[in-house]
Amino acid sequence: PLVLIAAAVLGYLLGSIPFGVLLARLFGLGDLRKVGSGNIGATNVLRTGNKPAAAATLLLDGGKGAVAVLIARAVAAEDAAQIAGFAAFLGHCFPVWLGFRGGKGVATFLGLWLALSWPLGLACCATWLATALIARISSLSALVATAASVLWALVFGYGAGVVLALALAALVFWRHADNIARLRAGTEPRIGER
Ligand code: G3P
Repeated sequence: PLVLIAAAVLGYLLGSIPFGVLLARLFGLGDLRKVGSGNIGATNVLRTGNKPAAAATLLLDGGKGAVAVLIARAVAAEDAAQIAGFAAFLGHCFPVWLGFRGGKGVATFLGLWLALSWPLGLACCATWLATALIARISSLSALVATAASVLWALVFGYGAGVVLALALAALVFWRHADNIARLRAGTEPRIGER
């Protein structure tokens, strides 16, 4: 149990690093929370027009989920790796540094799945990308990819991950409540649009 608690704390602390906010500041783009959707993720960094900053945010927000999983797996076992990944996701969504008002967890979701089960992670990335190519809407791609992750967990036999996939998908949908309302109203901006 102690090792699982340690995995959760490590994952949470890693996940709570708000790379989007930090990079926007570093690149002189101002306060990301005052841009576009106000979200702290790569999609919103892209709305500033700075593609390198957006790409770096995507990689680092994904990377923190992957690193949490890989460290926990290296020092403990698979259950600790899952807990660390889940905690990193929660850290991104509810970071202590931003008064617990964080992001929507999509990049971290992709990163943690790539580290837990790369076929499943790749399938989620491919689902996101395919939806984005067709619809050109980041939030919709995230909703489709996270919903599909439950199916991918079954397909790729990562059985223990089905519960995790369900929990993550539910949280991602909840975090996208505003996006879902805009999608229904037909007012959700396309990728790169302000
Ligand atoms: O990854 C978050 C994305 O799905 C939505 O971001 O800024 O359009 O609300 P945003």
